[in-house]
Amino acid sequence: MAEEVLTGLTSRPKFCSPKFLYDQKGSELFEKICELPEYYPTRTEEAILARAVPEIANLAGPGATLVEFGSGASRKVRLLLECLSVNRYLGIDISREFLINSTRRLAADYPWLEVHAACADFTRPVDLPQDIEPNRLVGFFPGSSIGNFTPQEAEGFLKGLHRLLPPGSGLLLGVDLVKDQKTLEAAYNDLSGVTAEFNLNLLDRMQRELGLAIDRNRFRHHAFFNPRESRIEMHLESRVAQVLRFNGQTIRFREGESIHTENSYKYSVPGFKNLAARAGFSGRRVWVDEKGLFSVHYLVASP
Ligand code: AVI
Repeated sequence: MAEEVLTGLTSRPKFCSPKFLYDQKGSELFEKICELPEYYPTRTEEAILARAVPEIANLAGPGATLVEFGSGASRKVRLLLECLSVNRYLGIDISREFLINSTRRLAADYPWLEVHAACADFTRPVDLPQDIEPNRLVGFFPGSSIGNFTPQEAEGFLKGLHRLLPPGSGLLLGVDLVKDQKTLEAAYNDLSGVTAEFNLNLLDRMQRELGLAIDRNRFRHHAFFNPRESRIEMHLESRVAQVLRFNGQTIRFREGESIHTENSYKYSVPGFKNLAARAGFSGRRVWVDEKGLFSVHYLVASP
């Protein structure tokens, strides 16, 4: 983390990978974001999944192993477990304690389910644990987390999944849709300030874990829609000119200069299908809510 953070803070423009937003505190704050009235993706995706689950069960077939990438609180998967006849679940997440607690709860609530957990950074190539047979896998990547990759990274990530999932495997993906700027920006600038807290927690984490003397009061949360790139950008903007020292290096901020902490790309349905096709997945079915806010894709790995 120290190495990656230092590279980001000494680059121009400054950046920090969004994966570092998810320590224990950050994961808890993200769960709060999902409950916010302005943050439409979670409840919209859950409503789509609840309605589509019989069809998803049909597409997935019986006896599959469900592999969830970025499983977090493993909440959405519960909507599937009730209906899909899977007998094994593997949750993969970067936030260790959070992963252990949520998969433990899952194992207690579904005694018939074989539950596995793997703490991994799935933005890098991952191998499946040896006791997971590679046949009959169904990938699950909800929440539009794919939107936190650039389109090029998303394609690379899907190509990696294509290597992991044998031909014919299913992949269920949540993808946020491009829409009016007001709705998008409200979702990342909630009135109760939870998203700002989520973003600023990154600075607390740098201080706590890396010993970097960075004062969160000297930064502000800034999130806006960039229509040219079709993405929400989240930044931590320096309120003042300041100089930090870290691992023998000097990091200078001009007043108003920011650390780019996250992108959240918004797609059209055909735009995302094309991206998936380039990575070797063909679209089998797409569900969209009646307001056109969010999409859930069932893709199949082509041979
Ligand atoms: C996890 N990910 C899909 C969220 C998003 O909407 O891009 C993370 C998030 N950042 C701020 N609010 C939510």
